[in-house]
Amino acid sequence: MPALYALAAEGSLPAGFTVVGAGRSALTDEEFRADMREGVEKYGRIHLREDVWERFAAGLRYATYEFDAPDGFDHLKSVLGEADRERGTAGNRLLYFSTPPNAVLPLAERLNAAGLTTQEPGTFVRTIIEKPFGRDLATARALNAGLHTAFVEEQIYRIDHYLGKETVQNLLVFRFANGIFEPLWNRQYIDHVQITVAEEIGVEGRGSYYEEAGALRDIVQNHIMQLVAIVGMEAPSNFQAEMVRDEKVKLLRAVRPIHPDDALSHSVRGQYSAGYIDGQPVPGYREEKGVAPDSLRETFVALKVDIDNWRWAGTPFYLRTGKRLPKRSTEIVIQFRRVPHSPFAGSVPLAAGAVPEDGIEPNLLILRIQPDEGITLRFGAKIPGQALRIESVNMDFMYGTAFREQSPDAYERLLLDCMLGDPTLFAREDEVEEAWRFCTAILDGWRAHPPDRTNCPNYPAGTWGPEESQEFMARDGRAWHIP
Ligand code: BG6
Repeated sequence: MPALYALAAEGSLPAGFTVVGAGRSALTDEEFRADMREGVEKYGRIHLREDVWERFAAGLRYATYEFDAPDGFDHLKSVLGEADRERGTAGNRLLYFSTPPNAVLPLAERLNAAGLTTQEPGTFVRTIIEKPFGRDLATARALNAGLHTAFVEEQIYRIDHYLGKETVQNLLVFRFANGIFEPLWNRQYIDHVQITVAEEIGVEGRGSYYEEAGALRDIVQNHIMQLVAIVGMEAPSNFQAEMVRDEKVKLLRAVRPIHPDDALSHSVRGQYSAGYIDGQPVPGYREEKGVAPDSLRETFVALKVDIDNWRWAGTPFYLRTGKRLPKRSTEIVIQFRRVPHSPFAGSVPLAAGAVPEDGIEPNLLILRIQPDEGITLRFGAKIPGQALRIESVNMDFMYGTAFREQSPDAYERLLLDCMLGDPTLFAREDEVEEAWRFCTAILDGWRAHPPDRTNCPNYPAGTWGPEESQEFMARDGRAWHIP
């Protein structure tokens, strides 16, 4: 609702735009409006303006439905019909499922039976489905098949809010609107890629959901695999939805399947215990509401991904995500190969940390998705002075200083795209299934080898995950970049 309000405030919605809230509880239109206003005031990106709100709120309605009654959707149907007649919405509908996952299919079936999913000629009916898109490959396939009984694929918009982020869209622009990076964007010049989605927050009252999900399902299967696809894909020949999504799927198909028996050597699982975030004590995962006191659920995961194609063979992607890490940071680090021969060996290294003998660290390209949105290129420079000493320096692009425009919220972009019928930034059925193919094998391997109870939890809140995560990289002679 805050995203819709923001779209209304910037004039992106037509005058007759109408939102019909639908649920099983009885609410009047006025109560629904008051609830929505509270949401906009509390979570909105922009300040609520009375005149804009009034115009927007005039289009807010509420309808109840009864799940099991044969005429249970009549009220909703009549409210939608009224909007068509009185507000000129003309039968164009976007059905947004904001329901528990197990309610999606039954609800889709009822809406279908009530005739609410059919597109009359000249109108559109689209649906936005939120994650989780299943809990593994089999359930994702079943969900997709079930949805297809009510909607054709072109009507289905699977929302992944990472794709709505400006900085994620900019990855495509960075790669495919600039001539200088793409020639280097391959196994020949790139040593490896790191993708980190680090969060300071814990499970934020969603303990029972998280017990079912865990970090792999919550973040890797969707947000991180989307980033893998965008970083790794080939250039589409144009920016049409199917062209872009075809390239993403091709990349995901090239991700080497990990045999469940190899899941342990390709991954690290972690769970946080009590610790400190910004100097404040925070409880451990097992102390969170809705979490079993002996839970083995992972709140941290690190993975190594190999991509079997000509561009990436031999250049691994390391992925990690975790809750209760020291800071919030989503970044993609491209680590380039070192120079083939250094003429500077023997000069005195000055930079702190593990610097190779010649003082030259590998070049890094750091794409910061959030916060401090921007891009940093890190390269060696001569420290001024008589001696030849080298230190890594940064060349920075910061969104905040380069542009004055405020970035829209991811949901603003995605809701508008859906209304305009542009699915480019939504996950297609096959993308979701390919991401599950990879993740399900790891889940299978993990199930066969549950974590050692004596080593779970294995990282205190406020640290960069379990020790094993550092060892995991060290084994390959690499180290995680510290955001
Ligand atoms: C959601 C996850 O999809 O993404 C949450 O369910 C997570 O657990 C959130 O906190 C992170 O989103 P963002 O935009 O803050 O990176």
